[in-house]
Amino acid sequence: MKQTTETVLNYHNRTKHRLERYAKGPESIDWEDQPDLFRRFSGCKLINLPKPGAELKPLFADLDTPEIIFPQPLNLTTVGLLLELAFGLSAWKQYGSSRWALRCNPSSGNLHPTEAYLISTGNDFIESGVYHYVSHDHSLEQRCLFNGNLPDSGILIGLSSIHWREAWKYGERAYRYCQHDTGHALGALRYAAAALGWPVELLAEWSDMDISTLLGLNRNDDFKLLEHESPDIICRINTPVDRKPLAAKNLLETSQSGAWFGKADSLRAYHLYKWPIIDEVANAVSKPTTSEPEWQAVRRPPRMVEVSHSVGNRCDQYTLKSSCTKTATAIIRQRRSAQQFDGKMAPLPMTDFYRMLAAVLPTTAAFELWRWPAKIHLFIFVHRVDGLTPGLYALPRDHAALGKLQATTLADFDWQKVDDAIPLYHLYSGNCRQIAKTLSCHQPIASDSAFSLAMVAEFGETIESAPWLYRRLFWECGLIGQTLYLEAEAAGVRGTGIGCYFDDSVHELLGIKDSAFQSLYHFTVGKPLEDKRLETLPAYGHLDLQRL
Ligand SMILES: Cc1cc2nc3c(=O)[nH]c(=O)nc-3n(C[C@H](O)[C@H](O)[C@H](O)COP(=O)(O)O)c2cc1C
Repeated sequence: MKQTTETVLNYHNRTKHRLERYAKGPESIDWEDQPDLFRRFSGCKLINLPKPGAELKPLFADLDTPEIIFPQPLNLTTVGLLLELAFGLSAWKQYGSSRWALRCNPSSGNLHPTEAYLISTGNDFIESGVYHYVSHDHSLEQRCLFNGNLPDSGILIGLSSIHWREAWKYGERAYRYCQHDTGHALGALRYAAAALGWPVELLAEWSDMDISTLLGLNRNDDFKLLEHESPDIICRINTPVDRKPLAAKNLLETSQSGAWFGKADSLRAYHLYKWPIIDEVANAVSKPTTSEPEWQAVRRPPRMVEVSHSVGNRCDQYTLKSSCTKTATAIIRQRRSAQQFDGKMAPLPMTDFYRMLAAVLPTTAAFELWRWPAKIHLFIFVHRVDGLTPGLYALPRDHAALGKLQATTLADFDWQKVDDAIPLYHLYSGNCRQIAKTLSCHQPIASDSAFSLAMVAEFGETIESAPWLYRRLFWECGLIGQTLYLEAEAAGVRGTGIGCYFDDSVHELLGIKDSAFQSLYHFTVGKPLEDKRLETLPAYGHLDLQRL
């Protein structure tokens, strides 16, 4: 086994939560000393984006068929909307004297390690260069001014992570959460762009080193020690400008020779605990330049499947098309994590359950940017779904994995296909509420819901083929999670990502004995109970005051 693969396996095993002890984290948390949640670069030109909060016409259900959405023109207003709907604030919550912001993209512990950058290569509404998005102020900081325009005019979005922001609270396991968050942010970007009628192309060939160069993350003097940003993802947004193919080499040279401005402000936290294993694993999974399958925006017929379903002696008609009549922008802005569920909820309609599962299949529009075979499969604890016997079910997201999943898991799972509409298999009937709760670090959100699930990755072979794919497995989980969050809102219920679970206890329950498959993320969906003590304030009310 290669040294780097071993480093990844070692990190992964060492950061497992176990029933008898949690992964290594800080012994105490000083909330006064929390790293600043909003990065700012001092010494840059600031561009205030147009007033946030605009609505777009497309319905959430329309995003299934991107070809029917009329592409918005590319200008500062629509770019602002893209950034707001993907990474901007969605509300403030207040309890007593504490006040905290929520964003369109979720984040483990609301710590938001992900930073977003806009790269403009030749547009008349903004100078060509690299800009850092400040979600708090809905503004752009000009980090780099290019020396002229590139022929391939358009915009790109880059994502990076400040691992320390997450490690401050979660210690060694934090690196996993940063990767989940990147996947969620990628999903958030896809939905925001889809509402504007713009396909997202993940520039999957790019190496970390090149992303770092383009975004200026390798300019060490611009960052405080331990507060650097690690490169994650670069995407091209296919806006309706007449573009030429992107010349990556040219773009990199242009950014290197551009004029760079600003230094990252300190996150103002005392680094009491240090987690060197995070840098170790980050180095081991650094992405080289790769060659990848070609990407094309798929033009597919509407995914509207009418099927007849029979359960026992019942027969239900349902459709996999979303029946949500809200706009995409409304659903994106209302997305929240449920903190608590109504354990006495009426069962979730089966149509909604099926729709949510169908939405995470790799052939859907949400996964159009994902060019690789699905490596993440769902094991679902059904607690309260109309017409389905409570128990354990599986949704292999790639049929090719079915045999391997069957061979790896407990021999007495029955693997009965539930129906022909989606690849859902019944494994075991029984009340799984207590076990789901125990496995998810004793959190009641995993048992009081309609269903909760484990995302199980084809792990061993994947990381042996290339260690950096460790990150991509978490990104895929995040993308699935983001889809579930929005689909849950569209179905009138709510979801919550669950990063805290007892890894090997999940494996034991499923019968997984080695690292060929590993559970990398959990999720739960149900009827939320609101915490009436919390006040909700508008996302950008503070800007009205500041910019008057
Ligand atoms: C990767 C990830 C892991 C999470 N893990 C948990 C968890 O174990 N328990 C929980 O209650 N919430 C969890 N959450 C939900 C976050 O706490 C929530 O996203 C954050 O507080 C921001 O709130 P919002 O989602 O309502 O914007 C997780 C979210 C993400 C993205």
